[in-house]
Amino acid sequence: MGRRAFSASIVAGAIALFSLSFLATIVRYLWPAGEKAEGKAVEIARAGEVALGAAKEKWLFEGFPAILINFPEGYKAFAVKCTHLGCTAAWRPEGWKPIGFANPVLFCPCHDGVFDPKTGKVLAGPPPAALPEIQVEERGGKIVATGWKDQAYVKTLDVYRK
Ligand code: FES
Repeated sequence: MGRRAFSASIVAGAIALFSLSFLATIVRYLWPAGEKAEGKAVEIARAGEVALGAAKEKWLFEGFPAILINFPEGYKAFAVKCTHLGCTAAWRPEGWKPIGFANPVLFCPCHDGVFDPKTGKVLAGPPPAALPEIQVEERGGKIVATGWKDQAYVKTLDVYRK
């Protein structure tokens, strides 16, 4: 292959990659419904699936990553898109000892944001506001997310505006 043909194939490859990423963006924009709840109840888990003191992560509520935690007092659920810059906070049942938390927390690794897993309130770090709580209930042997606990509060959070 000559230098000219090689250069042409590099340019053609770059154009093809750009076109594919552009096409993927359009498809994602036109077809988001599969991952979003958009106000509908979302089935999270089977009753009994999440052990006491454990959590179920990596499910979506209204397009946001969310967590369900089984406490002795009952289930709690929060959207875990961090209110600081939008990273995803995760369940840390062992706490986060590097900054002094020995009890379970929700922890955002981007800038050491720490949230209370029972209230969503900020315990440490730069997040400016609590994580929004999701209402859950047991229905027919399933744990179901039914809506935001405080829809008006969610609308005040920059990273939760669509
Ligand atoms: S994005 Fe979570 S602490 Fe910064």
